[in-house]
Amino acid sequence: MFESLQARPTDAIMALMQLAKADNSPKKIDLGVGVYKTDDGATPIMEAVKLATELNYKEEITKSYVSTIGNAAFRETMLELIFGADYTPLKEGRIASAQATGGSGALRLGAELIWSAGDQASVWVPTPTWANHSPLIGSVGPEIKQYPYYNKTTLGVDFDDMLACLEQEAKRGDVVVIHGCCHNPTGADLSKEEWDRLAPFLRDHGLVPFVDLAYFGLGHGLEADTYGLRLVGTTCPETIMAASCSKNFALYKERVGLVAAITNSKEQAELVQGQFGALQRRLTSMPPDHGAALVAKILGDEKLRKVWSDELDTMRGRMQALRQQLSDALRVQGAENIADAVINQNGMFSMLPLSVEQVTKLREDHSIYMMPSGRMNIAGANGENIPHLATAILDVL
Ligand code: LMR
Repeated sequence: MFESLQARPTDAIMALMQLAKADNSPKKIDLGVGVYKTDDGATPIMEAVKLATELNYKEEITKSYVSTIGNAAFRETMLELIFGADYTPLKEGRIASAQATGGSGALRLGAELIWSAGDQASVWVPTPTWANHSPLIGSVGPEIKQYPYYNKTTLGVDFDDMLACLEQEAKRGDVVVIHGCCHNPTGADLSKEEWDRLAPFLRDHGLVPFVDLAYFGLGHGLEADTYGLRLVGTTCPETIMAASCSKNFALYKERVGLVAAITNSKEQAELVQGQFGALQRRLTSMPPDHGAALVAKILGDEKLRKVWSDELDTMRGRMQALRQQLSDALRVQGAENIADAVINQNGMFSMLPLSVEQVTKLREDHSIYMMPSGRMNIAGANGENIPHLATAILDVL
């Protein structure tokens, strides 16, 4: 049986992570995988998570199964965090949700839901998008199509091209994956005005938004980062959302995520929730509880929540400060357009206008690690190595 298997290419992000780990050069700058880092390159456990772990250790009395849709307190507190307690679909009981195995598990459940509906919807993803979007969603069944998004010359969003493509080529009932904030891999987000145009556009063309909220809280803050999602959720009749706690709670390996669907009615939400449970049951039976229990503890406790949101503010502030420093260093050296892009983009990532060869040269000559696409994770830099980073970028350019 096994001899008929073909070798599969290693995932580019995971491969880069291993390559950077193996480099012991003191001048190494690892701007690869999308994890937050401190100045010394560590990815620590957040203080709020540590406190919640202590509480959980004392209070947890069983490891028995929870449910196919996961921890109820986690779902409730996360929905309130993402949408706000006053959000009309939430108050009306029109949002179905399930805890998922990370943001990826949430995307998978969303894709399974789309495919289960049987409408043969195609799923549109931006160009470029997170490298795992197409395999993760496409392997469920829907055809993956691409809409224009990032312009590697202007280093901004081609919003009119995006709308024109969807207008001409997408059919009613198709699903459009949109990064809610902190676009991965480019850091180029839709502006508030663009979301204001996009939401009625999607509604009028019968397109279903599928918002990927992997990095919320790390762009402009919790409220601003969920603006687009909230808007499409009240403008379009149906919306799907996949959120992750990997980045904003630094719970990466615990695999904590939430899938949600905003529906037309309470009855429909119950139906979709049942679907989520059944879909998860046949995939992995149920999601792991530990990380979700910690998130529920943090969000459900005023003091812990404050500790967490302060830490989140610090992480976001550090990345914004690094963006400013890199932008200044690039501007001084004459790279105005990249300097502008770095400061205008959000979250962990920016996509620099570098070729694969230039990225390889950065790695080989300077021990600087970034994705072959030119995606860099700004959190991997620090105040000390920014001048070296700026000089090296300009050197390979
Ligand atoms: C990334 O894009 O680097 C992260 O989301 C990690 C991953 O799983 O790809």
